[in-house]
Amino acid sequence: MTTLPPRVLSGIQPTGEMHIGNYFGAIQQHLALPDEYPGECFFFIADYHALTTVHDAATLRAGVREIAVTYMALGLDLERATLFRQSDVPEVCELTWLLASVTGMGLLERAHAYKDKVAHGLKPSMGLFCYPVLMAADILAYDSSMVPVGKDQVQHVEMAQDMATHFNEAFGQPVLRRPEWRLSKAPTVPGTDGGKMSKSYGNTIPIFCSGKPLKKLVGNIVTDSTPLGQPLTIEGDRVLALLDLFLDDEDRERVRGYYRAGARDGAPFGYGHAKQLLVEHIERYFADARARREALLANPQQIDDALARSAGRARQLAADTLARARHACGLR
Ligand code: ADP
Ligand code: TRP
Repeated sequence: MTTLPPRVLSGIQPTGEMHIGNYFGAIQQHLALPDEYPGECFFFIADYHALTTVHDAATLRAGVREIAVTYMALGLDLERATLFRQSDVPEVCELTWLLASVTGMGLLERAHAYKDKVAHGLKPSMGLFCYPVLMAADILAYDSSMVPVGKDQVQHVEMAQDMATHFNEAFGQPVLRRPEWRLSKAPTVPGTDGGKMSKSYGNTIPIFCSGKPLKKLVGNIVTDSTPLGQPLTIEGDRVLALLDLFLDDEDRERVRGYYRAGARDGAPFGYGHAKQLLVEHIERYFADARARREALLANPQQIDDALARSAGRARQLAADTLARARHACGLR
């Protein structure tokens, strides 16, 4: 392998509305990384992965557009980052097979995400089981050096490290670059039920939710039953954990003060007030992006054009890696 530049890559599944767990766990750092690595940031919409759970063409297409609009509305700079559809690079499927051939069953059987999804009632298909191999192919196809993800994806990146090593050792050549993961400041954002916020678990607060539906979702966050006027629980409270995402250090301390006192400016402060504060922060934080999203949706062609333009560069990189890998294994 020649000396490669640092390269950032991450993917998001188009399986539903993006939520604030996706934002603070992954997207926020994706938006910042092109400043550090201009021209070397690749973000893609993992539509092949989504097929493990979405079996309706219109839903999948709508999901892909939703992710693209979300990144563009939140301000991803497409001059310095590449945003593309996974399936515009079918080379990753062939690389998946090459990797599967050197991957032990035991490695995949240990995958937490697979076990979690099956425990939540998803059908254990071959696709779901092989999900980490496709993900490793995504990462390795672009010679990625850094994969910014939430904590739930760390094990998958570690599996990609293992698969790169197994492949290089099996064929006696340094064909695939070993990637490292990188966590954001909020590696696990809790959902409204206290578990990990996830599109698969129906416990999300979508980034662009506002007005009454937002109030309703936030209203449903489970809290303990401390009566109004008594000190609220700080440790483990989900409303406070979500509020923290939007606050600077000074405001965090101020809100903790309200919690400790069960009061704010002499008036009682209960979980209902904390929830109201959370609603206000979400509304304000995403207001500009919400407006940009509406403008983008009014002209969907520009979204499809942007994705198509980006796919070319990604595909060239993947084709180069695949050619190296095929050669190393003795394929023509
Ligand atoms: P979901 O679990 O909602 O389907 P994805 O698996 O598509 O989300 O995740 C997309 C990105 O967002 C990944 O990098 C993942 O680690 C991150 N992410 C998802 N949920 C959370 C969460 N609750 N907290 C932090 N990061 C998250
Ligand atoms: N599995 C990731 C998720 O559910 C999405 C994904 C697919 C991904 N391929 C990837 C993330 C490659 C990082 C790198 O969030």
